[in-house]
Amino acid sequence: MPLPLVLLHNVSPVLTKRILNAMSKKTIIITGANTGIGFEAARILCRSGDKYEVILACRSEEKAQAAVKAIKEESPNADIMFMKLDLASLDSVRQFVDNFLATGKKLHVLCNNAGMATNFSDNVRHLTKDGFEMTMGTNHFGHFLLTNLLLDKLKSTAASDGEARIVVTSSGMHDINGQQNRRGGPWTLDFLFCLRNYVFQFNGEEQKKFLTYMC
Ligand SMILES: NC(=O)c1ccc[n+]([C@@H]2O[C@H](COP(=O)([O-])OP(=O)(O)OC[C@H]3O[C@@H](n4cnc5c(N)ncnc54)[C@H](OP(=O)(O)O)[C@@H]3O)[C@@H](O)[C@H]2O)c1
Repeated sequence: MPLPLVLLHNVSPVLTKRILNAMSKKTIIITGANTGIGFEAARILCRSGDKYEVILACRSEEKAQAAVKAIKEESPNADIMFMKLDLASLDSVRQFVDNFLATGKKLHVLCNNAGMATNFSDNVRHLTKDGFEMTMGTNHFGHFLLTNLLLDKLKSTAASDGEARIVVTSSGMHDINGQQNRRGGPWTLDFLFCLRNYVFQFNGEEQKKFLTYMC
């Protein structure tokens, strides 16, 4: 501990703990971070290599390693790693969580970002490994299981470090009545659920503490 903090610790251990927590590295998991919004989020976070450890949770190792390489070229001190996660397989979600928990890392932010839109063009009903419709299985069920399996870790991190969050990238299409001037169009509610408009089983207080939606 730096000397000024040792001195401060004698006066206010609580304040010292807060300062130390603010200074400590935050671990962030981003699903689907090899491209798009997830990649950009990882890229920006990695500019502060000493503040954040970013885990790219992706289904394709090849694409994820290319993303790691691109980010390291821009930010050589980036603390970034790939961990395999296929949200269209509940076994893969469980394996990812086992692998992550085995590292013993804390978890400050879980960013549920990966997703896909239903492909209407081929008129084929695609299924996940568990037999769910692909969009629903990937966007909703995969993330739902992932979040629930990581919830204890998020809670224990929040208890020790003061805060942990789940960030969800969703879609403006949730606004079916156009109340935010972004009309969702003629989509049914079933379809909107496929777009991962989560209804997690949180009570109001937990939602305030843990959930951030980005629409
Ligand atoms: N961009 C928009 O205008 C917009 C609008 C509304 C909602 N959103 C939502 O915002 C999120 C990010 O959007 P984006 O535009 O950045 O999407 P994107 O560029 O299409 O990237 C989607 C990411 O999700 C990953 N992914 C897809 N299926 C997966 C699976 N089974 N397991 C693990 N990863 C999987 C993709 O991996 P691969 O590269 O391997 O396919 C990719 O990394 C998505 O959830 C999307 O639905 C975006």
